[in-house]
Amino acid sequence: MDKLVVRGGNPLTGSLTVSGSKNTALPLMSAALLTDGPVTLTNIPDLKDIHTFRRVIEVTGTTVDHAPDRHTMTLDAGTLSRAEAPYELVKRMRASFYMLGALLGRMGKARVSLPGGCAWGPRPVDLHIEGMKAMGAEIDLDQGYVVASAPGGRLSGGRMRLEPSSVGATINIALAAALARGGSVIENAAIEPDVVHFCQMLEAMGARMSGVGTRTLEIEGVDRLEPVDFENCPDRIEMGTYMIAAAIAGRPGEAVEIRNGRTDHLGDAFMEAFQWTGTRIGKGDGHITVTPPDELRPVSVTTGIYPGFPTDLQAQWTVLMARCAGNSKVHETVYPDRFKHIPELQRMGVNAIIVGDEVVIEGGKPIQGTSVMSTDLRASVSLVLAGMVAEGETHVLRVYHLDRGYERLEEKLSGAGIDITRVSYDEWADPS
Ligand code: UD1
Repeated sequence: MDKLVVRGGNPLTGSLTVSGSKNTALPLMSAALLTDGPVTLTNIPDLKDIHTFRRVIEVTGTTVDHAPDRHTMTLDAGTLSRAEAPYELVKRMRASFYMLGALLGRMGKARVSLPGGCAWGPRPVDLHIEGMKAMGAEIDLDQGYVVASAPGGRLSGGRMRLEPSSVGATINIALAAALARGGSVIENAAIEPDVVHFCQMLEAMGARMSGVGTRTLEIEGVDRLEPVDFENCPDRIEMGTYMIAAAIAGRPGEAVEIRNGRTDHLGDAFMEAFQWTGTRIGKGDGHITVTPPDELRPVSVTTGIYPGFPTDLQAQWTVLMARCAGNSKVHETVYPDRFKHIPELQRMGVNAIIVGDEVVIEGGKPIQGTSVMSTDLRASVSLVLAGMVAEGETHVLRVYHLDRGYERLEEKLSGAGIDITRVSYDEWADPS
């Protein structure tokens, strides 16, 4: 297994470049299954989740030509023949459940494993299933698999309301609705940039949609969708992570450049909270600059759906708050127990406690390097951030979580002055 060893204290200087969005790439890859010709996607990040989902797609008989170094992928679902997503692959990544909508839309049937457990809290898929039923699908559960079929081989379309608004359910339902016989309406649809960009790809393929980017998404099914070349958008969570990295580890008064990102994808809540810390944001040509203040101010946040504060940035925000003299709170409303990083941060000396669905942080105390365990993707990166400003060495174990969503993180950070290396280790070795 690999771990990251971070020696704290080096300032972050120069620039960091944001890769393509993981959470957008996965639905774009799913959309490619809705047509029988080659679809070429660009700006696809080279990440473990992308490789896993490529495997999931190949099981269907779709051919995938992936050039990770060039960040491109061509998928040709002309040879798609098997409407199945097996447990062995789905269990590695929940987003594989997008195969339900894609296969049901394209083939009128699907056998997709339920995703199962997750590192934080219950993450149900009831809305995905209710959405398929509302469009006329017959659904059975068979030995852990959702077995879905459309009477007559094609869904009829339908109307449904998502409560709560769900990114995954909106995408899954839209995948199935695009080739339905009739029209569909998703009320309280997600409007996260990942969803909007995915809808734009469907539209480029010939899908008839209205209300994209609003809470009421209407989809009039068509008989056929066309192959398309489409560019993925930048990863907004990676961008927010680098902004936080610059704020905590940059030199006060000295700008760090962040390239290729889109601040409008981060939402107003994050952008406002970030600037309230006293950190300045400037706009350049193809990049933004982040300039830390002499003293960071604590700012409490509450996570929410877009344009609310992203839940995927709250663990990183907690580390930023640990650097500010004063008290603050992080209130999690999307996944109320998504706090697996807190016990690990406590081991590093961060004074943060969990009170119900909030974390209360008393910032400004020194952070100490030690060995800490990654538990999920965003928790892992928060430990790396803490390591960057800790006294001594931090060993972030089980870094495979991080590899799911941050492309070449250690290369990018070490290129910007951070002392970070990847080392293989034996997790079960006795201490020497
Ligand atoms: C996506 C992101 C994830 C992010 C999350 C919230 C991907 C691959 N993952 O996850 O990184 O943290 O959005 O922005 O894009 N819910 C239900 N029933 C359902 C589906 C969801 O009750 O059938 C609830 C969830 O428990 C949660 C809320 O809806 O409380 C939002 O979840 P959702 O937007 O679906 O998250 P994901 O799409 O799984």
